[in-house]
Amino acid sequence: MSALRIAVIGGDGIGPEVVKQGLGALAAAAGATGLQYSLAEFDLGGDNYLARGGDPRRPSIPVVTPEEIETLRGFDAIYLGAVGHTRVAPGIMERGLLLKLRFELDQYINLRPVRLFPGVPSPLAGKGPEDIDLVVIRENTESLYLGMGGTAREGTPREVSTQEMLSTRFGVERCLRYAFDTARRRREAGKPGRLTLVHKTNVLTHCGGTWFRAFEELGERDYPDVERNYHHVDACCMYLVTSPERYDVVVTENMFGDIITDLGAAVSGGMGMAASGNINPSGVGMFEPVHGSAPDIAGRNRANPMAAIVSMAMLLEETGRNRALPQAVRAGELVYAAALAVSPRLEGEGMDRLRQGTQEVGRMVVEEIGATGSGGAADEK
Ligand code: IPM
Ligand code: MN
Repeated sequence: MSALRIAVIGGDGIGPEVVKQGLGALAAAAGATGLQYSLAEFDLGGDNYLARGGDPRRPSIPVVTPEEIETLRGFDAIYLGAVGHTRVAPGIMERGLLLKLRFELDQYINLRPVRLFPGVPSPLAGKGPEDIDLVVIRENTESLYLGMGGTAREGTPREVSTQEMLSTRFGVERCLRYAFDTARRRREAGKPGRLTLVHKTNVLTHCGGTWFRAFEELGERDYPDVERNYHHVDACCMYLVTSPERYDVVVTENMFGDIITDLGAAVSGGMGMAASGNINPSGVGMFEPVHGSAPDIAGRNRANPMAAIVSMAMLLEETGRNRALPQAVRAGELVYAAALAVSPRLEGEGMDRLRQGTQEVGRMVVEEIGATGSGGAADEK
C-alpha cells in the first residue's frame, strides 16, 4: 500500500495554528483507518520572503522558487494554512504564493462547499442546515485572474488600463465536466444532483457565450441525466440569500466564483467554517481554508480551526479518490463526520473568533474521530 505524501505550508498569521489542528485530525483518522502518510513542511510565509531578502513593498524575488514548485509537484497533495503578512504589502503573498501555485500546478477546479453545519448560526432568518447545502465549483486558472491587460499613460489624467476576461473552450469544458460529474455523484449520495451555471451572458456575451454553449452541448451529449439550470450572477447573489435551497452544484468562472463564495461563506456561518480545495484531478491539489491570516488573533488560540479541519477532510477524500487510495477516502469521511458531530457544540460561538479555543475545538474533533473510527456507527457509511 502506498503512503499519501502531503506537503504542509502553514503560511502566515493563524495559518500554522489551524493547520496544526487539521494535522491532529489527520493523525487520528489515519490511526482509525490504517492510512499511511508522510508530511513535509515548507516554510513559505511572509517571514521567509523577508528573510530571503524580498522587498516588503513590491514583489522583488519569487515567493516560491521554480525549484520549490517542482518539489511540490512530487507530492500527492498540499495542505495550506493562510497567506497575508502584516509587513508585506497586500498582493505580494497572494499572487506570489497562492495564485502562483494554483496556476503552476494547473489546479483548475476550486471546490468550495457551502454547507450550514448543525448548530452553526446563519444570518439568514428561517434557514437551516437542510436549506444551505451546496457546492460551488469555481474555474481556477482563467478569466480576469490571468492578469492580461496593461496600463498606459500611468499617473496622467489620460491614464488607461485594461484587464481582460478570458475563457478558453478547453478550460471551460474541463471545469464543466468536473461539475457534471460532481452533480452525478451528489445525486448518487441522495442529494438533488442539480447543476446551475452562473455567469452574466446578457452582458458578457463573448465569455458568457463560450460557457453557455459548452454547458448546453456537454450536458446534452454526455450528461443528459443531470438537470441543468442557468442563473445570472446578480440573481444568484439574491437567491443565495433568499432561497439557497435552489442550489445543489453551482459552476462558474473564476471572478464570479471568488465573489459568490464569500457570500456563501457568510450565509453558512462565516469564514471560520469555509473550506476549499484547489484541484487538478490528475496532478497535485492544494487544500486550504477560505479565510485569511487574521493577524489580529494570531497565536492567541482564538482562530476557528473548523475550516482547516474540513479542508483536511476534503484533501483526503479528493486525493484518495483521484489516487485510488480507499483508506484516504475513508479517513476523509471520518474527519468530515467528526466535524459535523462537533459543530453543534459550537452553539453560541462567534464563528470567526472562538471563545472555546482553537486547540480545544481540535481536540473535540480528534476525540470524535476516536469514538466513531474504532468500530462505531461511522464504519457503516
Ligand atoms: C480566495 C482569495 C484569493 C482569490 C486572493 C487572496 C488572491 O480571495 O481564495 O478566494 O481571489 O482567489
Ligand atoms: Mn476570495
